[in-house]
Amino acid sequence: MIFPPDEPNLAAAAETLRRGGLVAIPTETVYGLAANAYDADAVAKIFVAKGRAAVNPLIVHVAGPEQISRAAQWPLEEAPGGYFDALRVFWPGPLTLVLPKNDRVAKNVTPGLDTVAVRVPAHPVALRLLELCDFPLAAPSANVSLHISPTTAEHVQGDLGDSVEIILDGGPCEQGIESTIVTLAASPPRLLRHGAVPAEVIAERLALDLATLLRPAPDAESNASALPAPGMLSRHYAPRTRLVLADALRGATSEQDAELPHRVGLLLAGSWPADIDLHPSRFVHIEQLGLGQGDEANSMEVAARQLYAALRRLDEARLDLVIATPCAETGLGRAIMDRLRRAASGGWT
Ligand code: TXA
Ligand code: MG
Repeated sequence: MIFPPDEPNLAAAAETLRRGGLVAIPTETVYGLAANAYDADAVAKIFVAKGRAAVNPLIVHVAGPEQISRAAQWPLEEAPGGYFDALRVFWPGPLTLVLPKNDRVAKNVTPGLDTVAVRVPAHPVALRLLELCDFPLAAPSANVSLHISPTTAEHVQGDLGDSVEIILDGGPCEQGIESTIVTLAASPPRLLRHGAVPAEVIAERLALDLATLLRPAPDAESNASALPAPGMLSRHYAPRTRLVLADALRGATSEQDAELPHRVGLLLAGSWPADIDLHPSRFVHIEQLGLGQGDEANSMEVAARQLYAALRRLDEARLDLVIATPCAETGLGRAIMDRLRRAASGGWT
């Protein structure tokens, strides 16, 4: 099931994809569950394996900006073309661009839409596999739908087990949080999902105000051709254990403390809020994000890289409740807080 990504295994993976099978691939963000984006039957298997809603479109991966026409209409119209040139510098890398779709991409990749989300992953294994394929790869995160995204090959195996023929092991993901999604189907471009490229960096590159880039979709655009990413649906990254943000406990007294369930875990994305009165001994399992070495200590990059694995460990610790402390909501902290809020919005599952 899990294979080292040597050349024979990469060739076998390309062959599996060519004949319509599924392959889980490492990327720099999270592991993806890949199929030939031109093969509707293969793409359909992704939705079955994940238990994914058929209306939720997939990201198409290509080997470089020069392969953009494999997924998008090319050349682009003049206006989005300028924005595309400004943003292609992030490729290979964790930025997904929503563009007008070409006719070759299977219809079920982007159901009902005339746009397609495209990115060039910055992972040598994903890039080598894309080079071996003469078709682009549709690949959502390789988790069961609504569960935590996988950042190791073992996470993929735990979630998808037998429904994926080959899992290529590229080690733990470098970024650990999904790509940022920006639509060029809106003018000026709009951010649809916070991710590994901070919104501030994209706004600067596009010479746009952050507020413009982050503006909500106007009603006129919330039709089928300009849907906000369904990944923005509130409950998307949830662990199975109930999770609350520490803010929800503000004002808790020690009597309320005593009413907390027996087995409580703590996820420290930021420091513990001084005005919340809970004794550290209340927690039977603590995960602290951002603990790196030397210069990396307490960095947001390290916190993002560790987030999903920490959530999975908390989920496996048979806890009644996980309390998460918020981090500063700037830069990568935007994506981390976005995922924590989604995890918190579901309650028990
Ligand atoms: O980092 C990533 O982006 C990872 C790796 C595997 O590349 N992939 C990933 O895919 O996060 P997934 O399926 O978990 O999230 C894809 C998101 C969904 O929220 C989907 O709604 C949105 O992309 N999306 C796909 N096509 C779109 C389109 N044409 N317009 C708007 N949103 C789109
Ligand atoms: Mg996903």
